[in-house]
Amino acid sequence: MSETLRTSASFPANFLWGAATASYQVEGAHDADGKGPSIWDMMACKEGAISGGVTGHIACDHYQRIKEDVAMMKEMGLTAYRFSISWARVLPEGTGRVNQAGLDFYSALVDELIAAGIEPCATLYHWDLPLALHHRGGWMNREIASWFADYATIVGRALGDRVKWWITLNEPSVFIVAGYRDGNHAPGLKLSVTETLRCLHNALLAHGTGTQALRAACPQAVRICMAPAGYAKIPDTETPENIEAARRSLFTVAGQSLWDVALWMDPVFLGKYPDEAPAVFGAKWHHPSAEDLKTIHQPLDFIGFNCYSGIRVRAKTAAAPAPSDGSVRGTSLAGGGSAISAAPEDLPYPQEHPTGQLSWLMLAPESLYWQSRFFHERYGRGKLPVVVTENGFCSGDWVALDGHIHDGARIDYLHRYLRGIKRAAAEGIPLGGYFYWSLMDNFEWAEGYRPRFGLVHVDYATQKRTLKDSALWYREVIRTCGQNL
Ligand code: FCB
Repeated sequence: MSETLRTSASFPANFLWGAATASYQVEGAHDADGKGPSIWDMMACKEGAISGGVTGHIACDHYQRIKEDVAMMKEMGLTAYRFSISWARVLPEGTGRVNQAGLDFYSALVDELIAAGIEPCATLYHWDLPLALHHRGGWMNREIASWFADYATIVGRALGDRVKWWITLNEPSVFIVAGYRDGNHAPGLKLSVTETLRCLHNALLAHGTGTQALRAACPQAVRICMAPAGYAKIPDTETPENIEAARRSLFTVAGQSLWDVALWMDPVFLGKYPDEAPAVFGAKWHHPSAEDLKTIHQPLDFIGFNCYSGIRVRAKTAAAPAPSDGSVRGTSLAGGGSAISAAPEDLPYPQEHPTGQLSWLMLAPESLYWQSRFFHERYGRGKLPVVVTENGFCSGDWVALDGHIHDGARIDYLHRYLRGIKRAAAEGIPLGGYFYWSLMDNFEWAEGYRPRFGLVHVDYATQKRTLKDSALWYREVIRTCGQNL
């Protein structure tokens, strides 16, 4: 169990101030030292799949540069680093034969972090499924729950003496919906809703078996959660009606898009799918067994979530116009309620609303406060600390004539969003940490290298790293434990 976190008007003293990356996005070395191919290696070679036709073959060459990169983290004052493990580096065929060189790489990274006084936080799965497992059905095959448990056991035995913070799956809704239904992420399939629901259920099962396996394999008490994705829902003004409408909008399964966060979090934290799901999906619903739900519903140690943006919500009055039904990054903006007065209405942003380089990243600074509060209320059992496992901003940064990177928009974004967490702390919501996405610019999936999310600028031609102004600013936040926000 997690230790008791001191909450006060400010951030707890042991708050993790971190930054995050993922294996395929930064490591490169795609076929080095016995690593097997993953579905992203396959996807990156598919014509037209990635903007600019680029691949993650080299990415930030992090695999060759862990000493330099950890030294950079130390210079930035980070107290934690979230990275992911490439399943295919550890098990080239996904099951069976272990590639010791792969495990050695992560073990060396963990040692380097600990020597630098940085808490390692390991994600078991950040989307790079071994290709060999895809050929056996991947997330469509229920057996993946036992493949994942075996993988978790191997990694837990190798690193669990030193790694205390673990994340099973990163954003299962994104890798399942974007990968298996929409087809714009690996493996690029366009399955039916019925089939995609099967994948969803298999992913949640793997979270459950993976959690059990990790706990059994790690020789010390560890803290485990997953990192779900989703827009925050922000009350347009803070009236009780609007707050309730935002809560309902967040937790209601409003359609068959499969993006609704309760579909992914309720089984994990509450042991059941949302009550309305069978009616919403009708004949497509998969009617999970009680035994499966028990496996999925493992005790967890914190509430992790990734959140970049939010949507404003107000309570709809009977006379109000019908809600907008726009779609942002696949998420239905419709509240989906009946015409009763407290029904949520999701409000579209005006066209000129500020965004990052990617249009789904609308500026919505209250996101972290409301997401922390609503998740704490529904899933926290009064005590689980909230950890923001990802939050960040992309801008078209470049090195200025003076040699620096003046990313003022990122600083302002970060400042505003972190104030939301500070508010949560002041209201007594237990907090565990914050991980900025990302430590450094990297391969942004189907978008290639154009969006730059890093606190550190990467010149891909030379692999030169340069701390952006935001990294120096964040260092000051860390140094003062958020007093300067
Ligand atoms: C999240 C992913 C992460 C990165 C950021 C921008 O959805 O988890 O890998 O792509 O978005």
